[in-house]
Amino acid sequence: MSQADESLHLIQKGWALNSWRNKPIRQAPVYADQAALEAVEARLHRYPPLVFAGEARRLKARLAQAGRGEAFVLQGGACAESFNEYTADVVRDTFRVLLQMAVVLTFGAKVPVIKIGRMAGQYAKPRSSDVEKKNGLELPAYRGDIINGPEFTAQAREPDPARMETAYFQSAGVMNLLRAFSHGGYANLHRVHGWNLDFVARSPMAELYQDLSNRIDETLSFVKACGLNSESAHIDETEFYTSHEALLLPYEQALTRIDSTSGHYYDCSAHFLWIGDRTRQPDGAHVEFLRGVENPIGIKVGPTTTIEDLELLLERLNPQDEEGRITLISRMGQSKVREFLPPLLEAVQRTGRHVTWLCDPMHGNTTTTSTNVKTRSFEDVLAEVIGFFDVFNKAGLRPGGVHFEMTGQNVTECIGGAHCLSENDLGQRYETFCDPRLNAEQSLEMAFLLSKALTEAVATK
Ligand code: PEP
Ligand code: CO
Repeated sequence: MSQADESLHLIQKGWALNSWRNKPIRQAPVYADQAALEAVEARLHRYPPLVFAGEARRLKARLAQAGRGEAFVLQGGACAESFNEYTADVVRDTFRVLLQMAVVLTFGAKVPVIKIGRMAGQYAKPRSSDVEKKNGLELPAYRGDIINGPEFTAQAREPDPARMETAYFQSAGVMNLLRAFSHGGYANLHRVHGWNLDFVARSPMAELYQDLSNRIDETLSFVKACGLNSESAHIDETEFYTSHEALLLPYEQALTRIDSTSGHYYDCSAHFLWIGDRTRQPDGAHVEFLRGVENPIGIKVGPTTTIEDLELLLERLNPQDEEGRITLISRMGQSKVREFLPPLLEAVQRTGRHVTWLCDPMHGNTTTTSTNVKTRSFEDVLAEVIGFFDVFNKAGLRPGGVHFEMTGQNVTECIGGAHCLSENDLGQRYETFCDPRLNAEQSLEMAFLLSKALTEAVATK
């Protein structure tokens, strides 16, 4: 399509880069200084893209494979990245655990695992309440480092447009590291499996994991014995994609560019963007913005999502039913997934549309302790994914993948797991400003347990 054709096509669709500004919007900060906001938007608009359209297209093709059961998605990372945690170690450790999980999951799923980080741009947070109260004082809620600061002061909580520029430069730095780690030898399969062996040796559940890790070991040795060296088999590098919630639309708009190859608009802030549970109104601003960009798009699907809304969303965001365009991210809660997911899954099946389903077992399983600390239990998170897999098995379908809030650091934010973290341990290293994340050990344990569940599901097919 030529650029003129593309413009015509978009005019017919009634979409423009800024058409979202005429729609009702939720979760949007109000900036006091409009001139400062516009100056930042103008600068961001001139800066280089963080990802390329061709990469987003390749991810779309991969997600289409996952929708057909020919690949499995592992999406994970922080609830919110923070300006304070901007170090090479934090990036490397999260990347490393994702790679470790991917190796383990590949073995269970028996298909390639597509790795997508909640990284290099995951800075904006939707909040259930606009305000936060502490010791009789009420201040605007923290909305992620791209908008305001987490400190409980009126000054920090004031939305500041300059933060968008900091987020852009930090994303560029993280992206640069991720590209280097993916292609510079760090992602070598033998090495990643070596880390898994260390983990197994340390785990109190070693016996349970030993068998699986031995089998991975044998397979890798066999591949090596067949004469496939790292270079020819591409096992010293990996594909890694970035994603975040497309929440702060002035930022997303400023990073949206026309791709010179296809003539289409791509949001070049990340490969994959999703719409959160609180901003998925079919007539709202977030849906309006995303319908005009060609990236693969995620939609969070929760217990309050109606069949009617879901059908409308699929129609608006993917009128041509392009495969790989839509990923539905189910986040029901472990007690609800078996009841609430099947009707939605059946409804989508009835429309005959192509979608890829992931399970986010984090956002429906948040609880607060008696001392008012937000946490999640490892067992609830596991139970939701198992419930999700069961729903797919019963429907004769293969699940598309999983989505976690996790970190490579050994924080103490979620309870349970092999090291039996209890409520009393939460104070040791509770570092999140947002939602509690699985730590490195809990994330890997999760991968081992899910790999086992997937192996059993594939065996019964
Ligand atoms: C998130 O993924 O960080 C999030 C806020 O999820 P949800 O929109 O599903 O609540
Ligand atoms: Co979260």
